[in-house]
Amino acid sequence: MIKRINHVAIAVSNLDDAASTWEALLGLQMSGREHVASNKVEVGFIPVGESRIELVQPAAPDSPVAKFIEKRGPGIQHLCFEVDDIEAELARLKAAGVRLINEQPVAGAHGYRIAFVHPASTGGVLVELSQPPDPR
Ligand code: CO
Repeated sequence: MIKRINHVAIAVSNLDDAASTWEALLGLQMSGREHVASNKVEVGFIPVGESRIELVQPAAPDSPVAKFIEKRGPGIQHLCFEVDDIEAELARLKAAGVRLINEQPVAGAHGYRIAFVHPASTGGVLVELSQPPDPR
């Protein structure tokens, strides 16, 4: 089951600059900076109530986020829904004919297991599913 919007991700060229911009804008602090090898990105999270803003900087030229910035410039990159059973959600979507980028979960930041849904199946929005390490 989908529980909530976990985060909205923004593709950025420079995580430090973007953190300053967003911290000033929101009056909140970024925390939880981490390298995510599965996606070749450096991320930082700004907690906003029950959700977060995720700032995503490419960590390699062949990162999907580097390609995104090349094509479309910095900006909103994906929307992440938190789920309680990622395998069940992936099976449900697959059965419904939804195109998945990750058919199996991969390692995300902070011990989350994540999977991406292809924008071709969502009207152009890259969607991430994520399951937290501990049940809430
Ligand atoms: Co994300």
